[in-house]
Amino acid sequence: ILIMSVVATPADLPPPDKLPSVAGLPDVLTMRDGTKITSKKDWEEKQRPELKELFQHYMYGRYPHLVEPVKVVVTGKVLFEDAKAFDGKGTLREVEVSFSEASWPKIYLLIAAPNGSAPAACFVGPNFGGNHLLTASDKVRVPTAWVPANYPGVEKGTNKATAAGRGKQADTWPLQQIVEKGYAVATFYCGDIQPDRPNVREGMRATLPVHKDGGPIDETATVMWWAWGCHRAVDFLVTDKSIDAKRLAVVGHSRLGKTALLAGAFDDRIAVVIPHQSGCGGAGPSRSKNEKAEPVKRITTVFPHWFCANFTAFGDDTTKIPFDQHALVAICAPRPVLLTNAEDDQWANPSGQFDVLTAAAPAYKLYGDTKPGADKVPEQGTLSADRLGYFIRAGKHSMTPDDWKVFMQFADKWLK
Ligand code: GCU
Repeated sequence: ILIMSVVATPADLPPPDKLPSVAGLPDVLTMRDGTKITSKKDWEEKQRPELKELFQHYMYGRYPHLVEPVKVVVTGKVLFEDAKAFDGKGTLREVEVSFSEASWPKIYLLIAAPNGSAPAACFVGPNFGGNHLLTASDKVRVPTAWVPANYPGVEKGTNKATAAGRGKQADTWPLQQIVEKGYAVATFYCGDIQPDRPNVREGMRATLPVHKDGGPIDETATVMWWAWGCHRAVDFLVTDKSIDAKRLAVVGHSRLGKTALLAGAFDDRIAVVIPHQSGCGGAGPSRSKNEKAEPVKRITTVFPHWFCANFTAFGDDTTKIPFDQHALVAICAPRPVLLTNAEDDQWANPSGQFDVLTAAAPAYKLYGDTKPGADKVPEQGTLSADRLGYFIRAGKHSMTPDDWKVFMQFADKWLK
């Protein structure tokens, strides 16, 4: 693959405080210069690239390695393969994905696929604490990168994962349940690409030039690195014979749900996008009406590394952001996007996410879908499996086997 620049940073993007204020979610079909988009062609050639540019410059940082085009060769090496996993119904493998750029860290993809001849549709996404947390199999690699202290089996005081964590979070990515439904699933530890902590030049961030006075205001930030990692996982998956390259769905929970949405928006090879409880910085609007939802000010203070420095500047006035999160959903058009939520997780802003879906609909309509989403928030526990899908259940912030049932119900409609 050749990772290269599509659009260079336009010189005319003003600093955050010089941007005009817009009170509600900005019209997704109006360009910065006021041009109204009325055709699919203009959407794809004009507004979509402009929005991608704005999201990079003002929020997630630049898509990695665009400035200096790099030719990257992705190599997969099978570390182990168990063809009789899941009561003989599937194959469990771990693949070390490495890059021709030798300084880049490797990704370890845990892949579970149903046994059988036909290539399977596949869920792909990052996980929070390591592949070993997702299965009791002792063949699965324990990460050597920094891991957050509060995960099972992490050695006290050192942020090192240990084998004691094996299988302790198997419910978050229920491999067997997924395989039994005929789907494949591929996941990797997000921290192998970029550990989730600020101010340390490690992971992929270490491949960027060091600047004495901090990085550029739109330096690639952590959520972008994770999304980029998803794309590199996809590079491998599209070469894997057990996987159907045309039927990939990206999934992630919470901060990794923000990642899933960004990954889907920036890579058309991903057919379905499922950000679960992604909230602020994901499918939750920055201009929020929900008092219980996480504000931009809070997220950029507590997690300064997730977004680029430009985004922090909007903390006191989100009306100056020249887009909102519905535009990130709109970039995915016409591909199906499912926003899933929980009633007790107001922090992730379920109602605001519904508004985001509604405001993304005009882009989907350009592709001929006259009714891309539901008119009102569906009943709790009832999936709206429209192209702009929505689901809210009772309960709290978590990703559970029941959530996966909903993801698969959505995939049954769009990927079967
Ligand atoms: C925090 C953060 C959220 C994030 C969540 C998570 O609650 O404020 O934005 O989504 O962590 O990743 O679990």
